[in-house]
Amino acid sequence: MSTFGFATRAIHDGQAPDPRTGAVNVPLYLTSTYQLEGIEKHRGWEYSRVSNPTRDALEASLASLEGGVSGHAFASGMAAIAALVTMLKVGDHVICGDNVYGGTTRLFTQVIPHHGIEFSFVDTSNPENVCRAIRPTTKLVHIETPTNPLMILTDIRAIADVCHQHGIPVSVDNTFMSPYFQRPLELGADIVMHSTTKFLNGHSDGLGGVLVTNKPEHAETFRFVQKCTGGILSPFESWLILRGVKTLAVRMRQHDENGRQVAAYLAQHPKVSKVFYPGLASHPQYELAKRQMSGFGSMIAFETGSRENADKLLRAVRVITNGESLGGVESLISHSATTTHASVSPEERQRIGITEGLVRISVGIEDIGDILGDLDQALAKI
Ligand SMILES: Cc1ncc(COP(=O)(O)O)c(C=O)c1O
Repeated sequence: MSTFGFATRAIHDGQAPDPRTGAVNVPLYLTSTYQLEGIEKHRGWEYSRVSNPTRDALEASLASLEGGVSGHAFASGMAAIAALVTMLKVGDHVICGDNVYGGTTRLFTQVIPHHGIEFSFVDTSNPENVCRAIRPTTKLVHIETPTNPLMILTDIRAIADVCHQHGIPVSVDNTFMSPYFQRPLELGADIVMHSTTKFLNGHSDGLGGVLVTNKPEHAETFRFVQKCTGGILSPFESWLILRGVKTLAVRMRQHDENGRQVAAYLAQHPKVSKVFYPGLASHPQYELAKRQMSGFGSMIAFETGSRENADKLLRAVRVITNGESLGGVESLISHSATTTHASVSPEERQRIGITEGLVRISVGIEDIGDILGDLDQALAKI
C-alpha cells in the first residue's frame, strides 16, 4: 500500500501503467491460460482460476483502499461470503448480526448449516449480546454496519475487542459505506467483505464480491479457496470494477451530499412517519456514526405506513428507478420486505422491524433538485 491519499490510491494502487505498452489502464487479460517458460517455470501466471493480471490489479487496489495485506475477488458478494465460511469446519459456531442482508441470512440458515456449522443470530448493536452468544466453538463473528435496510450500526471496535479476548476473528460487511467512509480493519476487524456490485463498482453493470484481510493466515486461506472452489471474479468484471473504483472518492462525496439532503427532506415530510439514516441527529446511534464513519452515505430507509402506500410510491417515481440493488450512480428505490428480505420469514421481519410499508432508497448522484422533485410528486400520490 502506498502512503498517498485515498483518491490517489483509488486511481493508482495496483494499476501502474502496463510495462509492455505503457497503457495507463490495466489491460483486460481475457485468457484462461499462460505460456510457461519450462517445467515449473512461469512468469507469475499459470491458469486464470488461480490468478489473472486484471483480477490481481483489482485485488491489490481494494486491499490498498481497505488497508489490508491482500484482497480476494469472487463472482458476487454472496460468493465472497460463502468463501468466508469455508474457513470453518464441522462443529464450528458463527455469530452473525440478526439484521444483515437477507441473502446472507438465507445462506447462513438454509445452506451452510447443512455442512455442520452452527449459527447464532444476535443484535450486534449491543456488544453484550455478542459476548453472551460466544461459545468455546465460536470461530467467526460476522457483522454488517450499517445494516440493510434499517441502518442500525454496530460498534466495530467494541465487537473486535470482545472477540479478540476469545481469539475470534471478526468480519465486517462494508458494502453500504465503502472504504471511503468506513475502514473496519483500522477499527480492529480482521476481514472486510464487500458486494463490489454496489458502491465500489458504482455503475450497476457487473456483479462481484471481495474479501480483504490484514492477517496473512486468512489471506492464505482465501487464496487457497479461490483456487479450490473457483468462484472467482472474471477478468472483465474485475476490469469494470477497477474502472469504477477510480471515481469512488468523488462519487461517495456526492452520494453523501445527496443522501443528507434526501434524509432531511423525508424527515420533515408529513406522509413519512420514520426515517432511518445515521446522518440524522435523531438516529439513536448518531454519535457512533460520527465516530466510526467519515460520512453517512446515501442509503436511507423510510416508513410509508402500509404496503399499499409503498406500492403507490414505487409506481409513481420517474427519475428514481424501482429496482433492487444499490450503490450505483442512479437512484434506486425498493420494497425491502419483498426484495432483499423476501427470504426472511414474515415473523422474523416483523421482529426486526422490516414492515410492509418500509421502503429503501439508494440515493444516486443525479441533480439533487430532480431527486427531491421526483420524491415530492411521488409522495403526493400516496
Ligand atoms: C450488504 C450486502 N451484502 C451482500 C450482498 C450480496 O452481494 P451480491 O448481490 O453481489 O451477491 C448484498 C446485495 O444486495 C448486500 O446489500
